[in-house]
Amino acid sequence: MAPHDAVLGWNEDTTAQAYEAFTREFPMYGATSRDLARRARLAESHLVVDLCGGAGATAKAILELAPATAHVISLDNAAAMQRVGRRTLDDPQLTWVTAGAEDLACHAPAAEVDAVVCNSAIWKTGVPRVFTAVHTVLRPGGRFVFNIGGGFAGVHHDDEKSAHPGPSLNRLIHQVAARDYGYAPPPTRLAPPKLPLEAVAAHLSRAGMDVVDSEVVAHRGTVAEKRAWLSIPVFARPDGDFTHAQRMDILAKAYALTTPDAPTVTSWLVVVAERPTGWP
Ligand SMILES: C[S@@+](CC[C@H](N)C(=O)[O-])C[C@H]1O[C@@H](n2cnc3c(N)ncnc32)[C@H](O)[C@@H]1O
Repeated sequence: MAPHDAVLGWNEDTTAQAYEAFTREFPMYGATSRDLARRARLAESHLVVDLCGGAGATAKAILELAPATAHVISLDNAAAMQRVGRRTLDDPQLTWVTAGAEDLACHAPAAEVDAVVCNSAIWKTGVPRVFTAVHTVLRPGGRFVFNIGGGFAGVHHDDEKSAHPGPSLNRLIHQVAARDYGYAPPPTRLAPPKLPLEAVAAHLSRAGMDVVDSEVVAHRGTVAEKRAWLSIPVFARPDGDFTHAQRMDILAKAYALTTPDAPTVTSWLVVVAERPTGWP
């Protein structure tokens, strides 16, 4: 089954506009993008790819660190996300390309890209094909930097365990949905994580790249930020046969049971890979 935030829905104007508004009001995607851009070592870059760039939060972080002469390609398969991005980030150094990450090699020159940066998206893509395409476009010594949501990578930052003593907003959503809509959550299967570091390293190695660094990092936010994130249609819960209005009703009732300023922690696995200089 596709993950909850799989690509379906990203090409909707409602999602694109809500996502862009969220990134403007709350720091999560800006902060995670800046962290990846910093790890990509862009100071002397000429050409950088923002993979699955959406509405441009990551491209913005790249442009802040790359030289004024560098060029950035922001590639995403959701035209709606890029329409919003073009309106807010109009920069002559930036080209928007509407295409799947799997087809990156058709949209960037072979062996000429200094870095590929992918924030909050890689697990939604066809990973083996994408890694092969990234290897094709990277110059020898070029960096591929991406992150994976903690749940998908099977990692939890230590701070996540101690962050919030009460029930999470997700749990409250399920409780309210059960109480008011007769929602029966699907039985919890202990499914293995979709993309743990070992699998990532194996895929990278098959594609001809090496892991040079990895780290579990934490994004610290609030329940209010989580509520805003869960209001973006593509992330709204619970799964199943609900309208967006019903999901927002459930969210409002669940949120009313929380302390808005209570801290939350979101874990990410950050991976830095390189195309070796000696690779043919
Ligand atoms: C959470 S957003 C991240 C956007 C941006 N990197 C940021 O940090 O704001 C995920 C993006 O991945 C894109 N995406 C998902 N699967 C994709 C694929 N196979 N090819 C290209 N884009 C994809 C979606 O369209 C969406 O814009």
